[in-house]
Formats: sequence, structure tokens, C-alpha cells
Amino acid sequence: MKKLNNAHILSILLLIIGLISSCNDSENEKYIKIPSSVPNLKMPENNLSFKEIEDYKNYKIVATHFRTDKNELRYILANKKAFKAFKNKTEFPEGSKIVKIGWSIKEMPEFSPALVQDSIRRIEYMIKRNDFDKKQGNWGYARFVNEKGTYKSWDEGTQSCVSCHDIAKKTGYVFSEWALNQ
Ligand code: HEC
Repeated sequence: MKKLNNAHILSILLLIIGLISSCNDSENEKYIKIPSSVPNLKMPENNLSFKEIEDYKNYKIVATHFRTDKNELRYILANKKAFKAFKNKTEFPEGSKIVKIGWSIKEMPEFSPALVQDSIRRIEYMIKRNDFDKKQGNWGYARFVNEKGTYKSWDEGTQSCVSCHDIAKKTGYVFSEWALNQ
């Protein structure tokens, strides 16, 4: 048999380390992390930043919605804490973050009956933190609007978010349900 040289030993060691670490991966870590960078913006009213959801591309998709009045396609995404609550239909814990992305739509050039996402109109989120008003379910709201490729913080206040989400009080001020729960 050929003698093992240092390179062989090293590669075997690396293989073993690789196998051990892949076994230790939790379910979510098996997926490739998608890097993202968001502009350095803050909401004038409650100081919530866009950076707060910097890793939103790694959140799980909860649902897709379509607003007929706005012709807008929406994705609802949740961080791990919020997703668990969606999945188990339990109360959203502190630190829950739910993101909504709104897209304009266009016909697919190769197959026009298919409507697909065009450009992002806005990214908004709600975050649950004890320092936000308990009467509003401890949720804070933020919206960043995309105007011709540049994001701006929504400057019309978050009272409208709060009032309308009050309709969904029974489900923790959240309208969405996990779409794959069927
Ligand atoms: C007039 C009512 C209304 C207003 C105002 C409103 N929302 Fe919503 N929001 C909804 C509805 C209805 C949905 C679910 C349907 C959809 O996706 O459009 C929703 C969904 C969401 C979601 C996904 C979680 C969920 O509840 O389903 C987020 C995040 C969100 N809104 C953030 C905001 C923010 C931030 C503002 C204010 C800047 C805001 N909303 C203002 C009605 C409203």
C-alpha cells in the first residue's frame, strides 16, 4: 500500500471536519445565505432603520398576496422567530420581524399570459419590541419607498399602519397566514 503523505492526511482530516460540521448544521443553515445590503435610512417618527432587516433575503416566505386596486404583487417574509409563530399559530414573540415587499408587475416577454414581478415599489416591515405601545400589540412599523431606484423613508407617519392593522387585532395585528400550511 502507498504511504500516506502529509497532503493525504490533511485532506482526510478536512473531509472528516467537513462531515462533522455538515451533520451539526441546523435545518436552516443548510441553505445558502444570501448577502444583502440596504441603504442607511431611518424612519423619522420611530427611528426604525432599514438596517434592522438587513438580512431580509434570508427570511422565510410566509405568503404572496396580490392587491387588485394597486396592481401590486406582495411577498410576506418572516425572520426565524416570527416564522415559528406563523407555523405554530402562536403569539408572535419579542424580536419578531415581518417584512412585506411590494412589486409592480409586467407581462413575461416570452409568454405574455404570465404576469411576473417588475420592480420593487416598497419594502416595509413590522417588528415586535416591548418598548412599542402594548395597545398596538408592541409592534413598530417602518416603510421604505423605492422612487426610481432610490429608497426613501416614509414620512407620513405610522398612525395609518397602526389603525389599519388594528382590524387584525384578533390575529396579533397580523393579516397574513402561512400559505403552505395546507
Ligand atoms: C388600509 C390598511 C393598511 C394600512 C394603512 C397598512 N397596512 Fe399593512 N397590511 C394591510 C393588509 C390588508 C395586509 C395583508 C394583505 C397585503 O399583503 O396587502 C397588510 C400586510 C402588512 C405586512 C405583512 C404582515 C401582515 O400583517 O400580514 C406588513 C409588514 C405591513 N402590512 C406593514 C405595514 C406598514 C409598515 C404600514 C404603514 C407604513 C402599513 N402596513 C399600513 C393593511 C394595511
